[in-house]
Amino acid sequence: MSEILIKGGNRLTGKISVQGAKNSVLPVLAATVLCGDRCVIHNCPTLSDVETSVKIIRNLGCGCEKTGNTVTVDSREITSFEIPDDLMREMRSSVVFLGAVIGRMGKAYISSPGGCELGPRPIDLHLSALKHMGVTVTEEHGYLHCTAEQGLHGAEIHLTFPSVGATENIILAAATAKGNTTIHNAAKEPEISDLADFLNSAGARIYGSGSDTIQIYGVEKLHGAEHAIIPDRIAAATYMACAAVTGGKITLENVMPPHMVSILWFFKECGCETEISGKSVTVSAPERLCRVPTVRSLVYPGFPTDAGPIALAVLCLAEGTSVFVENIFENRFRYTDELKRFGAQVKTQGKIAVVEGRPALSAADCACTDLRGGAALVIAALAADGVSTIKEIHHIERGYDDIVGNLRTLGADIQEQ
Ligand code: UD1
Repeated sequence: MSEILIKGGNRLTGKISVQGAKNSVLPVLAATVLCGDRCVIHNCPTLSDVETSVKIIRNLGCGCEKTGNTVTVDSREITSFEIPDDLMREMRSSVVFLGAVIGRMGKAYISSPGGCELGPRPIDLHLSALKHMGVTVTEEHGYLHCTAEQGLHGAEIHLTFPSVGATENIILAAATAKGNTTIHNAAKEPEISDLADFLNSAGARIYGSGSDTIQIYGVEKLHGAEHAIIPDRIAAATYMACAAVTGGKITLENVMPPHMVSILWFFKECGCETEISGKSVTVSAPERLCRVPTVRSLVYPGFPTDAGPIALAVLCLAEGTSVFVENIFENRFRYTDELKRFGAQVKTQGKIAVVEGRPALSAADCACTDLRGGAALVIAALAADGVSTIKEIHHIERGYDDIVGNLRTLGADIQEQ
């Protein structure tokens, strides 16, 4: 099992280009299945979650090749409507294939997603919306059998919570359903707009993405399309954090600053200087980071839950005491026990973490508990005195394309072994 070794203390400087968004590429790849044609998706990061998506697409009987950062899907032929348990377990977010497969095949069998490292991951909102669109759902031996006997039809849907996954599944199912669908209280994340933009370029008629009311006029058929995935705002936040804790100054290229307002605000509050120029952001760390007023994870445009562990790692080195409130997932603080190995002072109770910033951290042997928690350990290790070892890095590989190479380019003393 490989691990990452980091000798902390190097000041990060220089320039890197930010990968395509993990949370966008997965739904867009799912959407290619719906197109029934040849689709070319650019700016796809090299991640184990993308590999899993490729496997799922092939398992459905479609052609799928990844060359560099481009994935080509040929979904003219599709032979299966099942996502087997092993692939579902590799990636909980494979649930986003549900809407696409039902839309294309009129039915889908998926293994029940169950819980994950972040706590229970219910899909009741997805299923209830699909039922309103003509889908019958039965559960058998851990599998969900979803069938639209009479085909999918449009519906008026109100989400009781603006779930990102549910919004994506509804858009996918509605794109080729009979009639019109309106999603009220829809998720507004930029990744939703990216999915809608791709589908619209493939012939769908989706309006209002990025707002809380999305209208989808069902079309009979989609066609092939070419699309480039938006930049990953969470990966960008991670590299900004690496610069912030090492007293560094880095420039990130290929970012979308308008998607990062709450993240940029956080770094400014910590005392960093941020400079935006078109699609690039430069962040320079202050002499000493400072505490911030309470940060709460919220739906977009609020502070992203995925950036919570990254922010918390930064606050471990800030002067003063800060509070982070996690409002989206129930069990997202497991990584804080690993952060404590670096000498970080973090106390958690329920959804609240209190961080007492320290002037320095010391190297530790630690293990990733989840993707973004793993990123928090990398950030801590870059700042810590001495050589740290980070194990269970398969979590990190789910979401970061060549993090070791990127950090080395910025001057970190880092290696994978
Ligand atoms: C979540 C994040 C998303 C992030 C992604 C990957 C939010 C709102 N969502 O999306 O930004 O990119 O993780 O890490 O920040 N829920 C239900 N029933 C459902 C669906 C969701 O109760 O059917 C609850 C979840 O338990 C959770 C909340 O809604 O508390 C957020 O869920 P959702 O947005 O659906 O999660 P993801 O799509 O995984």
